[in-house]
Amino acid sequence: MNKPLDMATAATTVKRAFDPESARKDFPVLARPIYGKPLHFLDTAASAQKPQAVIDAVSDAYGIDYANIHRGVYYLSQKATEAYDAARAKIAAFVNAREPSELIFTRNATEAINLVAYSYGRKFLKEGDEVVLSEMEHHANIVPWQMLRDAVGVKLTVVPIDDAGELDMESYVTALEGNVKLVAMTHMSNALGTVTPIAEIIRLAHDAGAKILVDGCQMVPHETVDLQALDADFYVFSGHKLYGPTGTGVLYGKKDLLDAMPPYQTGGDMIRTVTFAKTTFAEVPARFEAGTPHIAGAIGLGAAVDYLRQFDMAEIHAHEMEVAEYARGQLQAINQVRIYGEAGRRGSLVSFGLDCAHPHDIGTILDREAVAIRAGHHCAQPVMEHFGISGTVRASFGLYNTKADADALIAGIRKVMEIFG
Ligand SMILES: Cc1ncc(COP(=O)(O)O)c(C=O)c1O
Repeated sequence: MNKPLDMATAATTVKRAFDPESARKDFPVLARPIYGKPLHFLDTAASAQKPQAVIDAVSDAYGIDYANIHRGVYYLSQKATEAYDAARAKIAAFVNAREPSELIFTRNATEAINLVAYSYGRKFLKEGDEVVLSEMEHHANIVPWQMLRDAVGVKLTVVPIDDAGELDMESYVTALEGNVKLVAMTHMSNALGTVTPIAEIIRLAHDAGAKILVDGCQMVPHETVDLQALDADFYVFSGHKLYGPTGTGVLYGKKDLLDAMPPYQTGGDMIRTVTFAKTTFAEVPARFEAGTPHIAGAIGLGAAVDYLRQFDMAEIHAHEMEVAEYARGQLQAINQVRIYGEAGRRGSLVSFGLDCAHPHDIGTILDREAVAIRAGHHCAQPVMEHFGISGTVRASFGLYNTKADADALIAGIRKVMEIFG
């Protein structure tokens, strides 16, 4: 299970120069017309499209090497086990974890956070301990902590954001003066695009004697994340936003913490011995992967990481930011547009509203132009409350987006203004 990371990295030493037009051809859905028009997919922050390499890997996992893992002595089961374990090693190398067993496969990022809140939270936190969150968390990084509050009596402290969408670092420092045992903080806001100063946030949490969980859902697909350098205690991300299959997410945890945590779910595959009197549990990561996992999904996520590692992530990021900032500039030039999220450091998404139309109406009109955006609260209702709105329109950019997508968005917005303005 714990293959050395250099085995997983060996295949990707020569990089393919990143060319968005050529990369677009790797994603079959992008060639699919919508209402007879070319698709402009601007909803990667919700879930990314899949390259053919991922689709093939999932198909082959079922069509060529399929069997249940970790159990069979026969050829196919061993092949499937090897592929599953190799996927973990590839992903561990991608985020520079110390070892593959620090990564737990989950259904999604939500399950990863629930796992920590339930397992770590109930064992190590008690009444009166404080958990610090930010006002810009996704609901997935709020509700599990509320459940923990209701179960054990921890206190939740929320660090506010300002009107640009920046985290109020002074309030964070003040919050850490309390009896803080855990910080749960986003690396990049899915509603505003804010990239938080996470290295400093982690350092301050540790200086205050607290552990920290980082929600990296919106960061891992776009920029190199080095978990050893960051030194977060827990770090979660979604596989499906990383160009991998749905039903995949990852929890990274420092080995000593995972080792000390009790199981989250129990049953097959996560035990060492079972008698009716007593059960002993397997080592991590198996201890946290009860039952048959999403074998093909994990293999597909490994293929997604292989796909990304052909490129230099810095080139992908530079391209995505160029397109996103181009779209932002065009939107800013329109009087009626109000942009939400103007932090100094931000990722490749733009959240905005129009005076004349509701986000859902904007989304519907854009849809008829084959421009796929997200409209609503983006599972971040406290952010919407901060700005006194019910929702925004969010255009989010992945590696396959180009300025043509941004131009289609702007043309669609002009159409909305003609209709509603
Ligand atoms: C910042 C952030 N955190 C958590 C999640 C939840 O991810 P998942 O749907 O994979 O559980 C999302 C998904 O939109 C997100 O953007």
